[in-house]
Amino acid sequence: MKDISEFDVDGRRVLVRADLNVPLEGDVITDDGRIRASVPTIEELARRGARVIVVAHLGRPKGKPNPDYSLAPVAKRLGELLGTDVAFATDVVGKSAQEVVEALQDGQVALLENLRFEPGEESKDDAERAGFAARLAALADLYVGDGFGAVHRKHASVYDVPALLPHAAGRLVLAEVEVLKRLTETTERPYAVVLGGAKVSDKLGVIGNLLTKVDRLLIGGGMAYTFLKAQGYEVGRSLLQEDQLDQVRGFLNEAAKRGVQLVLPVDVLAATEFAEDAEYEVVDATAIPADRQGLDIGPRTRELFANKLADARTVFWNGPMGVFEFEAFSGGTRAVAEALIGLEAFTVVGGGDSAAAVRRLGLPEDGFSHISTGGGASLEYLEGKTLPGLVALER
Ligand code: 3PG
Repeated sequence: MKDISEFDVDGRRVLVRADLNVPLEGDVITDDGRIRASVPTIEELARRGARVIVVAHLGRPKGKPNPDYSLAPVAKRLGELLGTDVAFATDVVGKSAQEVVEALQDGQVALLENLRFEPGEESKDDAERAGFAARLAALADLYVGDGFGAVHRKHASVYDVPALLPHAAGRLVLAEVEVLKRLTETTERPYAVVLGGAKVSDKLGVIGNLLTKVDRLLIGGGMAYTFLKAQGYEVGRSLLQEDQLDQVRGFLNEAAKRGVQLVLPVDVLAATEFAEDAEYEVVDATAIPADRQGLDIGPRTRELFANKLADARTVFWNGPMGVFEFEAFSGGTRAVAEALIGLEAFTVVGGGDSAAAVRRLGLPEDGFSHISTGGGASLEYLEGKTLPGLVALER
């Protein structure tokens, strides 16, 4: 992969594919982590005299313009972080984009409207994607891939545009890939992985692959209940993926065969309903009452998980341990984060909800070796999948 220092960018139009897919409430950005992570590449290109055209997606508007998914608030925040105005185009490759790009001066930055307002961006039809990619590529002289969180998507701006322009990887993508290599190629042991989040089915591939690599796999969050059920325990009204039980039994056998410690919750906060102010009690994970649902790992599990992490040299954590958005059920996620912060180890927080949880709970970001911007992208990398956005940059 080429890096941006290999190109003379002065006076040239550089299209930067960033991942600015941030959570919004109305037009208020509730976590700007991905915007901040995109700043170094954009700033460096602008400082070196490039005319920087940033493109990104927000949410899943399914190929049509939709004001609820406009990147306008992101343009404003990006401008604040860069300390300069960011011109905003109200379309992706239309009149507004042409005019904004035309007006850019050396060292200036523009953001185009949500790529996913165009059906060509995500199309499964190669020709449709190629048509849109050609229109995007026509706006620029060079391409920089820096949207790590989207490199697992075979989308026009991620996969097809780099084939049409001289291209390089941005700072964020290079940093993320270096971290992932440390988790897959040069891992110091003991290597522990903590997985949480709601659905086992989202993590099947990665669990299968991790069982061949890790020393310990700690499972919390909503997905833990399918594991508990697979061991023969009743889980009351907790989240359960019945259709994954066989697969999960397979994982339990595989872990035992390989000598991987698969660590499950021993107690949970069992609540009367899924609500911020629900009544709850701490119960053994093997005795969840039929009318209750587990919304967080309990205090003994927090201690157990911290002990299992204590001597690890490498830790990857993806997915909250409970419903951390509700104060009463955020303790498990906080405890895992705090356990990681105290370690003398290479600690990586893998994207999405867990990265947002760290910031939302007010934990110090520099307490971890790395907080990834890519949820799905990091998991697919760890799964051993080929990521289209990285393939495109390596060509
Ligand atoms: C993410 O949020 O993980 C990335 O921005 C990719 O978004 P997507 O899952 O909608 O493709």
